[in-house]
Amino acid sequence: MNKVLGLFTRPKSIPPLRLTIETQFYDRKVTDISYPDHVRLLALDMAGKEIRSGNVEGSVAEVGVFQGDFAKYINRVFSDRKFYLFDTFEGFDDRDLKKDEDEGYYSLDQDFSLTNVEHVLSKMEFRDNCVVKKGYFPESLGGLDETFCFVSLDTDLYNPIMEGLNYFYPRLSPGGYIFIHDYNNSHYDGVKQAISEFREESGVAFFPLPDWGGTIVIMKPKGHR
Ligand SMILES: C[S@@+](CC[C@H](N)C(=O)[O-])C[C@H]1O[C@@H](n2cnc3c(N)ncnc32)[C@H](O)[C@@H]1O
Repeated sequence: MNKVLGLFTRPKSIPPLRLTIETQFYDRKVTDISYPDHVRLLALDMAGKEIRSGNVEGSVAEVGVFQGDFAKYINRVFSDRKFYLFDTFEGFDDRDLKKDEDEGYYSLDQDFSLTNVEHVLSKMEFRDNCVVKKGYFPESLGGLDETFCFVSLDTDLYNPIMEGLNYFYPRLSPGGYIFIHDYNNSHYDGVKQAISEFREESGVAFFPLPDWGGTIVIMKPKGHR
């Protein structure tokens, strides 16, 4: 009996995961882990490793940066890639809010205006890679035509999530990833709605992460365009 149960007990020594961020943190001190959502962070790190080992080409982007707390890790993991940072840097736009409030997707009263470009850039280790796209997304694209290997969509509301999927998925390299925050977050039903509609139209597959925000991950298979 004990022997059988023993199969399921935690081994005395767990092989270390080969993670850029974890290694950097644990090489310093455990207290250096300042970002609270480790599942989100380590998923980013592992996606970065797959992208590098698969020689997946393209820039990286985040739409919905706020104070740059997740963006700084995107910048660190993808230290060799151009990094586009999209945000109004003034909080939600009324056009987006109206849709989500009218549809009953969103009923919080959140203020994301307490940020600015300099503050965000001061957190970036590889600042030269950063291209700030300040303004209303998708207008802030301004005709940008790029290829991407990794994108984080974290805008909370229906319109910018839908616009982000429509813009980035066709420009995602095969082998690349899109992380979309808040799919499984009941405070932001517009996110789930936009992704569900996009999935119906495009047939994309995704995997849900057990992180704090209920992120889902879309991957474009190799050989697809
Ligand atoms: C939840 S915060 C992002 C948090 C950040 N990704 C993090 O993990 O720390 C959402 C951000 O999306 C931005 N946002 C929402 N809709 C937008 C739009 N249409 N265009 C530009 N930025 C938008 C807001 O200004 C806000 O800063």
